[in-house]
Amino acid sequence: MTDLFSPLRLGAIDLPNRIVMSSLTRNRAGAGNVPTDLTVEYYRQRASAGLILTEASPICPEAHGYPRTPGIHTAEQMAGWKTVTAAVHAAGGRIAIQLWHVGRISHPDLQPGGATPVAPSALCPVGQVMTFKGMQEYVTPRALEAAELPALVASYVQAAKNAMAAGFDGVEIHAGNGYLLDQFLRSSTNQRSDAYGGSKENRARLLLEVLAAVCAAIGNNRVGVRLSPVTPFNDISDANPQETFDYVVGELNRFDLAFLDVLQGTGGAAPEQWLPFDYARLRAIYKGKLILNNGYDFATGQAAVQGGAADAIAYGRALLANPDLVERFRRGAPLNQPDYTKLYVGEEKGYTDYPFLAD
Ligand code: PHB
Repeated sequence: MTDLFSPLRLGAIDLPNRIVMSSLTRNRAGAGNVPTDLTVEYYRQRASAGLILTEASPICPEAHGYPRTPGIHTAEQMAGWKTVTAAVHAAGGRIAIQLWHVGRISHPDLQPGGATPVAPSALCPVGQVMTFKGMQEYVTPRALEAAELPALVASYVQAAKNAMAAGFDGVEIHAGNGYLLDQFLRSSTNQRSDAYGGSKENRARLLLEVLAAVCAAIGNNRVGVRLSPVTPFNDISDANPQETFDYVVGELNRFDLAFLDVLQGTGGAAPEQWLPFDYARLRAIYKGKLILNNGYDFATGQAAVQGGAADAIAYGRALLANPDLVERFRRGAPLNQPDYTKLYVGEEKGYTDYPFLAD
């Protein structure tokens, strides 16, 4: 029977198992937002995962919204990532980079020239943003002009080409968790009256244009997409998420992507706290390979793959704390627990020092 240990082909990427590493922000990039030797070691340690999805990686200077997140828009960042992909490949692994633009989830202190962050509409997020000066209130973003969107699409294309040059096996377009593309998709953050706002077709337009352009540039079989239909993270919601995302996923079928990666519910929250959404319906509409994510353990992940709810499962916290998670699952071995005080700080502590089974 197909299970977590069965091989899987995602477009052009052959996985030896269906245990995927979820994208996880770790805030340990070096000067110039360049991956460091520690980044190399962290991903190399996790190369036995079926596929590594990197931490979210900003596609251009305006895409940044957090300190020390490694970008994919400068020659130095590409060189840093190249050492990561080489190490993962040498260790027998596969790695795709998550391409990120935060949109309004930023601050002038994190923007080039102290500029105002951009978004579909000039709506200020509720909450605070971590800057180099500590926590600050969000600001009201500037609504992007329709005439600016082709350059934005071109930034995704350039970042995808950079990723290929840096040796990645593929890219995941981040269209979830309240960041820029999700701000276009969901109705609470998109109050535009042009061709990119209003109806679900219009709200999905930018994502679909990005996908078409990135697929044309690097090949559809190396492109995936991340969606999170109901998470309220980053102060976002949709008036009718099932209708919106049934439509989006139906449109994705046109591209024959390598994979669709869906965060169920709210990241980190228990299922009882998730807003209602029918993921089986997405599964039925979507014709390609589906990765599900959020709080799975070995038993629930096995059940989801064996029962056909998903083709693969993305594990975040479990792979963060267990570099050899695949082997631990195989042996039924106990798991290390993540040190939540070191998710975003600590350099090597809580990053590259989680023990392997043999240790
Ligand atoms: C975060 O930095 O907290 C973060 C980044 C990307 C996500 C979710 C959370 O998709």
